[in-house]
Amino acid sequence: MSVISRRQFTTGLIAGGLSAQWGPAFSYPDRAQIESLKDVLNVQHLDRAARAAMTPEAYHFVAGAADDGLTRDANRAAWERVRIRPRRLVDVSEITTDVELLGDRYESPVILAPAGNQLKVHADGEMATARAAAAEGHLLIAAQMADTRISEMAAAGGPLWFQLYPTKQREFMLWLAEQASNAGCRALVLTIDGPTRGNHEAERWFTMHRDKSVPRSRARLANFEGYDGRAGVGDPTFSWDDVQWLTEQVALPLFLKGIVTHEDARLCRRAGVAGLIVSNHGGRQEGNGRGTAEVLPEIVAAVDGRMPVLLDGGIRRGADVFKALAMGADAVCIGRPYLWGLGAFGEAGVSKCLQILQSELERTMRYAGTPALGDISPVHIQRP
Ligand SMILES: Cc1cc2nc3c(=O)[nH]c(=O)nc-3n(C[C@H](O)[C@H](O)[C@H](O)COP(=O)(O)O)c2cc1C
Repeated sequence: MSVISRRQFTTGLIAGGLSAQWGPAFSYPDRAQIESLKDVLNVQHLDRAARAAMTPEAYHFVAGAADDGLTRDANRAAWERVRIRPRRLVDVSEITTDVELLGDRYESPVILAPAGNQLKVHADGEMATARAAAAEGHLLIAAQMADTRISEMAAAGGPLWFQLYPTKQREFMLWLAEQASNAGCRALVLTIDGPTRGNHEAERWFTMHRDKSVPRSRARLANFEGYDGRAGVGDPTFSWDDVQWLTEQVALPLFLKGIVTHEDARLCRRAGVAGLIVSNHGGRQEGNGRGTAEVLPEIVAAVDGRMPVLLDGGIRRGADVFKALAMGADAVCIGRPYLWGLGAFGEAGVSKCLQILQSELERTMRYAGTPALGDISPVHIQRP
């Protein structure tokens, strides 16, 4: 047998052996096989399980993005381009992920981003999310457009912030802020990336083609209940003077969510806000095409440590959380991952999502040689 043919023979044997061992007998779970929580090994599995469990309309409510999904996909791709530089021989027997934000301590830097209308996602809606967040020890930002009132969500017992939108009826904004404060929320988050409705073509398509004989589930707008005045959402005139006005009116510290440029980060400092969230709404508003990992460095430089910087968009692994912290974020928020968990398995699915990301983060910290969040710094990553 010639050398060449012997090599070919050996290669053939290995290939044959491998396919016998790993091929038909072991196939990595596809969508149909993720039927129980036991099968869920990562957050993408929750996506597959949600796709199988939810109606197409509900699934697209979560997955959908503006225009061609350019910004949503850019979020994901940008994290994949950042590399980790692990350090060796550090004592990583004890890992702590405690983080302090505005004087409050949280057990994890992974925060649940505000998401409205969760009854569309699962029959237990926001209460399932609030219970899981409380049980797993994660901060939850409750949404103005939730189907569950902020006071009900507070009953789950976990730490809460409250998100609201600019609204023409300014008195209503102040009333909402008061409700949030009464419910024990520790901060307000004003989402400022929606001067108009995003172009969600999937959602529009489902609306156009829906079975008109089935009654449509209406959003409850629970946080509007009890307000005896005109209440709405949205105000395209809202600008920096209005932000300043709001910071002066409300007792709680105010974060701005939706900052994607250093120019606006500087204006945040001038407006006297307590902090900001780098976010493009998970690509649901405009198709600007910039992933938040690309945007973060210019914002961290502009803020220069003077206020907490949070970030969301495309975080799907604990390694992504690590990368964001190494690039200067104080904490990160996740949206779709916990909504997939909710859609597929209710409260248990949200818990699973949080457990997976937390354990992935801790594993990444062990490998990187960073036992505490404060040890994670720019030297631990390599940017494109
Ligand atoms: C179904 C859904 C509903 C959302 N609703 C809100 C909302 O009411 N207010 C808000 O500020 N952001 C909302 N967001 C955006 C999230 O807070 C967050 O910015 C985004 O989901 C992060 O990106 P990711 O989904 O890639 O993690 C929503 C996102 C989704 C997926």
